[in-house]
This record gives sequence, structure tokens and C-alpha cells, in this order.
Amino acid sequence: MISIIGAGKIGSSAAFNILGRRISDVVLIDVVENLAQGEALDMMQAAPAIEFDGKIEGTSSYSEMRSSELVILTAGLARQPGMSRLDLINKNAAIVKSIVKEVVRYAPDCKLMVVTNPVDVITYVAFKESGFERNRVFGMGNILDTLRFRSYIAMKLGVSREDIRALVIGEHGDSMVPLVNYASVSGIPITDLLKREQIQKIVNLTRTSGSDVIKLKGSTVYAPAAVIAIMADAVLRGRNRVMGVSTYLQGEYGFSDVSIGVPCVLGKNGVERILELKLDLETKKEFEKSAAVVKDAIDKIKEA
Ligand code: 2OP
Repeated sequence: MISIIGAGKIGSSAAFNILGRRISDVVLIDVVENLAQGEALDMMQAAPAIEFDGKIEGTSSYSEMRSSELVILTAGLARQPGMSRLDLINKNAAIVKSIVKEVVRYAPDCKLMVVTNPVDVITYVAFKESGFERNRVFGMGNILDTLRFRSYIAMKLGVSREDIRALVIGEHGDSMVPLVNYASVSGIPITDLLKREQIQKIVNLTRTSGSDVIKLKGSTVYAPAAVIAIMADAVLRGRNRVMGVSTYLQGEYGFSDVSIGVPCVLGKNGVERILELKLDLETKKEFEKSAAVVKDAIDKIKEA
């Protein structure tokens, strides 16, 4: 079973994506009275249309997450237009610390997926607060950036999004590192198909893609919700998918005591393993800058 904490736009849309893919029963939890209950009732009424025969429950009681295999943490404040994800840091860290105590109490054996922003810092906080092994606590970030990167490459080339393969690493934020040299269209490097300045424009669009949506409609919903379902599928079905996931480093890429997006194998046990890429000097420097941004934010939390 999957429990989703936070029945806001992303949490409830993710729940509906998970039901629609028939990945698992879902318990939707929110402290706002009736919010999760209303969302669950609405989805239950839609269930015949998505051929879902399982359970969808809404509650304001954390005890209902008991025995969940996967807990997805979306609760917290969302950024407003003009805010960076890092602006949410202290308020969301405090909210998450209190929720993780409930996760440990009611679902001590679960895998914990963090969505709450700034996701790399909040993944770090959740990992430390939970006392879980590091493979069981991971953040949803870079795979969302990768989906956006793929969409913009496909749009520019006028090809199917399905044939684009790409990777983004680093902070799920302004310092993210789209890996141009690993991006391809059915194996053809995009550097063979696009000029340098065209690629840079796509990288810039990828970096601002979340903010661009927030400026227009106030929050992102469909893209993060779809990605949460992709990651839930990888874990519940033990698919060992390779994707950018925020995870706690212990020396990989030369960093320790920081959670940041790196290519991981995501499966039954959460982060099955971390894949260490050979980065060229320029990319290595960008990743180091990104890791420094996240480490600096983590240090600010420690001082608070
Ligand atoms: C996004 O980029 C919510 O951080 C998430 O849409």
C-alpha cells in the first residue's frame, strides 16, 4: 500500500495517477479536515472509469499509514511566483520533522519518498530524522527536471518525446545540471543534431520550467504528479529504473553528508545503488557548485 501525506494539488493528483496506473491502493492523509476525505471520495467515484478496483481512503489520521510499503511526503508550503524552492526551507523543514516522527511510528519499514521542497534539503532532514538506512529515503526532483529537459529537446527537434533519453543531476533547483553529453534521440547524441546555442537555450528553459508554470498558473501539478507515479511504480514493482533521484551521499561523486540528485537504480528497496558517471571538467565543476548550494542550505538548517 502507498500512503501520501499532503492532499494538496500535487498529492491528490499523484494519488490519481497511481490509481490510474493501478500501482497500489492509496491512503491520502491531510491534517486539513475533510480535504483528504473529499479527494478520496471524488477518486472513488472515478474509479470505474480508470478500471481501478482497489482501495482509496482519505483521512486526517497518521495511524492509517500503518504498514505502508511506500510513504510519499508532499506536505508543506508551496512556493509563490518569484520565490525559489530554497525560500521554503525553514518552515518546511519544521513541518517535515514532525511528520517523519509519525512515519517512523506507524510505518517503520516503509520507503520514504520526499516531494516537499526544497527537496534535496528536505530529503536530508527526513533521512536524519527517520534514522532509516539511506536507501529507504529519497527525493523526487531530477527525474522531473529530466522530463522537462526531454520535452524541450523533443519540441526543438520535432520528434517524439518517447525517443529522447536524458539525465539531470544536482540540486532540484536553479543550480541543476542537465547532462547535455548524455542526452540522445534514439541513441543519436543531441550534440550531433543541435547547435551549441540551441542546446544552451533548452538547458535554460529546463532550469526555469517550474517557475515558468508557477508564474502562469500559481503552482505546478501534472508534471510532478506524473513523476511521483513513475517513481512509485519503480519501487512497488521493483523495476530497477535508472533515474535522477535525490539521495544521501557517503563519498559518491566526492561528497558526503549531503542529499542531492544523482543517477540511481530505483527499485524494491528504494535506492538500490548509485551510479557514478565520468563527468567532464566543466560538468564536474557545475555539479560541485550545485552540491555547495545544497550543503550551504543544509548548514543554515543546522544553525536554525
Ligand atoms: C516542480 O519543479 C514541485 O519542485 C516541483 O514542479
